[in-house]
Amino acid sequence: MHNQRSRKWFEGPEYYAFSRRAWLRSEGFGPDIFDGKPVIGICNSWSELNNCNAHLRQVAEAVKRGVWAAGGVPLEFPTISLGEMFMKPTAMLFRNLMAMDVEECIRANPLDGVVLLSGCDKTTPAQLMGAASAGLPAIMVTGGPMLAGEWRGRKLGSGTDGRKLFDQYRTGRITEEEWCEVEACIARTSGHCTVMGTASTMAGVAEALGMTLPGCAAIPAPDSRRMMIAEQSGRRIVDMVAEQLTPSRILTRDAFHNAITTLMALGGSTNAVVHLCAIAGRLGIDLPLEEFDRLSRRTPCIVNVKPSGEYVMEDLFHAGGVPAVMKEIEHLLKGDAITASGRTMQENLAAAVCGNRDVIRTAAAPLSAEGGISVLTGNLAPDGAVIKPTAASANLLQHRGLAIVFETRDEMMARIDDPDLPVDAGSVLVMKNCGPKGGPGFPEWGQIPLPRKLIDQGVTDVVRISDARMSGTSFGTVVLHISPESAIGGPLAIVRTGDEIILDYAGRRIDVALSDQQISARLKEFRPPPSHYARGYGKLFLDHVTQAHLGCDFDFLAGNS
Ligand code: FES
Repeated sequence: MHNQRSRKWFEGPEYYAFSRRAWLRSEGFGPDIFDGKPVIGICNSWSELNNCNAHLRQVAEAVKRGVWAAGGVPLEFPTISLGEMFMKPTAMLFRNLMAMDVEECIRANPLDGVVLLSGCDKTTPAQLMGAASAGLPAIMVTGGPMLAGEWRGRKLGSGTDGRKLFDQYRTGRITEEEWCEVEACIARTSGHCTVMGTASTMAGVAEALGMTLPGCAAIPAPDSRRMMIAEQSGRRIVDMVAEQLTPSRILTRDAFHNAITTLMALGGSTNAVVHLCAIAGRLGIDLPLEEFDRLSRRTPCIVNVKPSGEYVMEDLFHAGGVPAVMKEIEHLLKGDAITASGRTMQENLAAAVCGNRDVIRTAAAPLSAEGGISVLTGNLAPDGAVIKPTAASANLLQHRGLAIVFETRDEMMARIDDPDLPVDAGSVLVMKNCGPKGGPGFPEWGQIPLPRKLIDQGVTDVVRISDARMSGTSFGTVVLHISPESAIGGPLAIVRTGDEIILDYAGRRIDVALSDQQISARLKEFRPPPSHYARGYGKLFLDHVTQAHLGCDFDFLAGNS
């Protein structure tokens, strides 16, 4: 193979070429590994601090088998990993740090191509962002969803059922002992969350972008076919190096069109909007929020998986996975987009079949006629906000109600169950200072818990608005990602308890019933909250993170030159 990048490290008479060969041989390789074989990095986000990715060492072994078999040399390397359950204040604060780690590890080392191993929510976008900027041929293998838990005859889907049962536990409807049983079985195998949360969504998005082999996203983590596709991906990357099939050739505008359309059909996580904007930004592709709404309006939501539907990811796998979903909406896709398989998307989908029409509905009889994510604007969100209508209550999507305002999440947590909270079923819960700079890190706090007072009255949902994100496993009539955020003086900052909030989903608007003059007058009194960080990575983040509608990447990381 000619012009291999790794040759620049290992070939030639000078001392450093000798020493690189010699030092690599300290790992036990023979001299024949330098006879022209492409060097394939296996970028592994394995970590015991990230349970969702804790099985990726085994997946890496399967990738290595494939790389060796195809005539390459695999070298596995770690990066930081982002465990959604553990990291405080939020894993999202570190997505850009991981993306930089991935990019620089790829660029600095003697690699010709790379296999990306991801799983938990932020690890997939971080690797795609880093690999897009590094520019070497890259293929992704996501780790797959865990198997669903089963409790007293009921299938449990990760955070979606966890949150519902927690509300029952905190209001005394299930016992301490029952709650312990749920804890023991809700996350019973390796893999990422088993509903259409952010991890499953981003795995589907990576597949729809063409960055994985077809069928990768939905294979359960413990299923032997996960190892099989890992091995195939290891074989395939060697060919991709020969073809110089780089991310910029796959991640085209057409690929993003396919990814957004598939996201809507999946009823996927709102977080994917932020991540897709950030990945596209690395390639100089502008993805305005209006494009998400435009594609959402023309794409039926056809996947009956929680939190929008009833099933879990292993059901989607048995029904045919993402290829069967994309096949059903093929008329809305750009079939010519080239993918990591070396074939077009249309060719990838040629043999896709659906095995269960209750899990993957037809486009003619969908779960909902429009996609799972919509974009709102209005005087509260001049640069946009998002809502997941498929996980909302239909009767609340056109709603006027008086605001109950919490200045911070801490204040919300302290007051939400106060019996004197002046809340009723028509109230709108408003939470500030949860955005990229205000959180800090844009945490998943947007699904404000229902006040105990309302749960006791049998209320199951109220309108909630904030500049936070929410977990892809969450549900409810929740307006998120309000941009610009309150901490930098976005109009959300001036809302007071008692103001009337108008959610007009049909008109795609979120407004406060105040005139422009009233908003301007209140904004003159706005004082930003104290900065969260004076040093270190946190300060870098606060100084350079962009707003939600731009993807929350660092301003200096856009573009791939
Ligand atoms: Fe990792 Fe849900 S906690 S995917």
